[in-house]
Amino acid sequence: HLTTSRTLSNTASPLQIFVRAKKKINDIFADIESYSEESFYFLEELPKNLANKGTVEEIGTYVKKLQAIRYVLSRDHMKCVFFGRTSNGKSSVINAMLREKILPSGIGHTTNCFLQVEGSENGDSYLITEDSDEKQNVKSVAQLAHALCTEKIGCSALMRVVWPKDKCPLLRDDVVFVDSPGIDVSPNLDEWIDKHCVDADVFVLVANAESTLMLTEKNFFHKVSSRLSKPNIFILNNRWDASANEPEYLEEVKKQHLQRSVDFLVNELKVISSKEEAENRVFFVSAKEVLQARLNEQKKVPIHSGIAMTEGFFGRLHEFENFEKQFEECISRSAVRTKFDHHTSRGKLIVSNIRMCMENIRETSLKKSEELQGQKVELSRAIEETERQMLLVTKEAKNRIRNMVEEVEIKVSKALSE
Ligand code: GTP
Ligand code: MG
Repeated sequence: HLTTSRTLSNTASPLQIFVRAKKKINDIFADIESYSEESFYFLEELPKNLANKGTVEEIGTYVKKLQAIRYVLSRDHMKCVFFGRTSNGKSSVINAMLREKILPSGIGHTTNCFLQVEGSENGDSYLITEDSDEKQNVKSVAQLAHALCTEKIGCSALMRVVWPKDKCPLLRDDVVFVDSPGIDVSPNLDEWIDKHCVDADVFVLVANAESTLMLTEKNFFHKVSSRLSKPNIFILNNRWDASANEPEYLEEVKKQHLQRSVDFLVNELKVISSKEEAENRVFFVSAKEVLQARLNEQKKVPIHSGIAMTEGFFGRLHEFENFEKQFEECISRSAVRTKFDHHTSRGKLIVSNIRMCMENIRETSLKKSEELQGQKVELSRAIEETERQMLLVTKEAKNRIRNMVEEVEIKVSKALSE
């Protein structure tokens, strides 16, 4: 019973590593944010000689920074970019992975700008262009293709296709796909890298198994790997169904493609160190067949209905699933490392700075309380001294008064007797 789909409720997917890590780091940042907010309000209430204006302001900026990190974090996703020559099947591969015909595909030059497919929170489907927040409604591929044709935009521009998550496990798990125009049609490859590749976790080179890796494809990836350190690259030799036409050369051609692809990754780009590891990055697939099979499965018709080349079909399907498994492990691991490492170190720095501020304030307040204690002791000593003096003074005064009275008495009685 071969099936084409992983169940939607499968939590064992490697993508869950990213999803769970994102939730966990977000919870931690929520804690830090509420702690720093509490600290801010507490310090605001303190007398100015304990927490000066500068310190309160400093904590205030940390609160804002933490809010900004949480915003970025909420938008963090795993990003995969697809490149290859025109008509090699980039859009078809993405559709097959999404299990739905979302992106327009067809013969000739179809995709004419960058298209990012991402999951929508509320089940709506719409299109957003780069320079506006306006959501253009799209319900179908035909509508999307039409909307894309009427937009007059350059080939480096990005259109975001926001699509309901419910049918596509990959969108639900925060994977974002970026489709590109054929690398042979653009002179702006540097701009493409700057704009769309620097934050990509995985690159998929969709090659044509009917020919061979082209120089334009190779050059582009040389540029990519000179700009990014060790990019994660997969090579899909697409249109492998065509090989079924020539079974006598099949193994030989496969061996040749595999060797060239591995050589490209290991010896030319040097992005992978071992031949064995590189072999796990090269696959022989037919996106067209996989998409058709997955649509058949959803319609509950036999899986290979409408598929021309049934020879080797299940093997190719299995190869595509194998690619997806390796892809999911790779993208999840890479995204956790690159995206969350950065947040973690910024978070740590903020926490240690807030702690330093709070400790300084605690020390100042301890010093002040010791000073007050000292003053209190001195004061009570002074009071005791005064009381003692007062006692002496009173005693002396009493004696003097008695003496004076006696003197007066003597003087009076003397005067009387005189
Ligand atoms: P551009 O957007 O124009 O650069 O092309 P693309 O790379 O996105 O190719 P697209 O997915 O539009 O596919 C081009 C044509 O090839 C379409 O007619 C597809 O149906 C067909 N195609 C894609 N994948 C396969 C495959 O594996 N086997 C066969 N036989 N045809 C395929
Ligand atoms: Mg395309």
